[in-house]
Amino acid sequence: MTNKVATLNLGDQQVELPVISGTVGPDVLDIRKLYGQTDCFTFDPGFTSTASCESQLTYIDGDQGVLLHRGYSIEELSEQSSFMEVSYLLLNGELPSKQELSDFSYTISRHTMLHEQLSTFYRGFRRDAHPMAIMCGVVGALSAFYHDSTDIADPVQRKIASHRLIAKMPTIAAMAYKYSVGQPFIYPDNKLSYTGNFLRMTFGVPAEEYEVIPAVEKALDRIFILHADHEQNASTSTVRLAGSSGANPFACIAAGIACLWGPAHGGANEAALNMLREIGTPDKIPHYIARAKDKNDPFRLMGFGHRVYKNYDPRATVMQKTVREVLAALKVNDPIFEVAMQLEEMALNDPYFIEKKLFPNVDFYSGIILSAIGFPTTMFTVLFALARTVGWVAQWNEMISDPGQKIGRPRQLYTGPTARTYLPVEKR
Ligand code: SDX
Repeated sequence: MTNKVATLNLGDQQVELPVISGTVGPDVLDIRKLYGQTDCFTFDPGFTSTASCESQLTYIDGDQGVLLHRGYSIEELSEQSSFMEVSYLLLNGELPSKQELSDFSYTISRHTMLHEQLSTFYRGFRRDAHPMAIMCGVVGALSAFYHDSTDIADPVQRKIASHRLIAKMPTIAAMAYKYSVGQPFIYPDNKLSYTGNFLRMTFGVPAEEYEVIPAVEKALDRIFILHADHEQNASTSTVRLAGSSGANPFACIAAGIACLWGPAHGGANEAALNMLREIGTPDKIPHYIARAKDKNDPFRLMGFGHRVYKNYDPRATVMQKTVREVLAALKVNDPIFEVAMQLEEMALNDPYFIEKKLFPNVDFYSGIILSAIGFPTTMFTVLFALARTVGWVAQWNEMISDPGQKIGRPRQLYTGPTARTYLPVEKR
């Protein structure tokens, strides 16, 4: 926090705006009193220059390609940590001791089962329902089952709801997949790791033992780490805005899932793989790059570009490395990976992408790994939501426990008709 001020000259009025500094990153102009002093709003559709809150969870430097969670780099966390440990870090602010991690993992594992009544909830969906539609419905419905953890004023209930959401997302996601392929639901097995348990619930069948492949478990756990949190992205902002009205945590996370589904956001991983498959072979790449550059063509390179990263998304770097590891471990030779790498190479050397600072983002390579593991493209955003739940929950907790928290209620620039008198239909 600093005592710098910015001066705004508005007609004959001069307004001083406090300038506040964080521990790192851009300063902010505190405009909380601006409307009261000037009768003016600021105007920032898409919030390209707006800090919506103060947070201590995740820091991104888009120009340097830096991503820190509670100060630890995504490179170190994805290489040396685990999703359970990163979840503890996001929720509690510090890396856990061995005992703290063991206790946390134990607590999470004791919430992995769903109320049995919820399994009938799935039967209301068509078998070909998109799993993200099921996730929106089932997660929102959790508030109908877990009333004992919906009082947001009670920190104990907030903690239980947080643990329930993190623990049950893999179960809900796996059940959505099982329902879509007509196989029976597999109950959680708490002897397995968080990620191993998810793999077994998804790909295991009652007819035989399921062996978790360590290389796959490690790769998927790393993918979960890469998706855990990302500052005030669209879905996190949705969770915060929903939470600011006092809505229960299950409803807030369901709102975040709905927002994440969009192809400009979390839906991009599904769209990116579908795009790579549509391109099919390297010789078709120039045609698609030309389309992406064509102002009259709505086509965009899915998995490319980012509101914040104007350099390489550090998660995409880790993801590309992980593709190689998984394809080698599974002895899968997916020609789409070659298409992705050649597409990246051509785009990064094209003046359009260079000038607009468009680089691969977290969604560009993830689909290749998930497809190699056996997930259908319709499950890709579900996995993103599964992993991002800990970030949404941590951001929601940070907002709810802020004593200065108030309902989010933006204003607008009104350009519609001014007041006019109603005309009865016979006079129109
Ligand atoms: C995620 O916010 C987060 O942190 C999100 C996320 C997270 O972890 O939560 O990182 C996850 O959502 C990653 C982004 C996944 N989306 C995609 O890959 C979809 C494709 N990308 C774009 O739609 C776009 O890049 C966005 C939505 C990601 C960012 O859009 P912005 O910041 O609003 O930028 P823009 O749309 O204004 O684009 C700037 C220019 C435009 O050209 P001009 O109008 O200035 O001439 O770049 C062009 C765009 O047309 N452009 C692209 C492009 N992305 C932007 N052109 C071709 N292909 C692309 N992918």
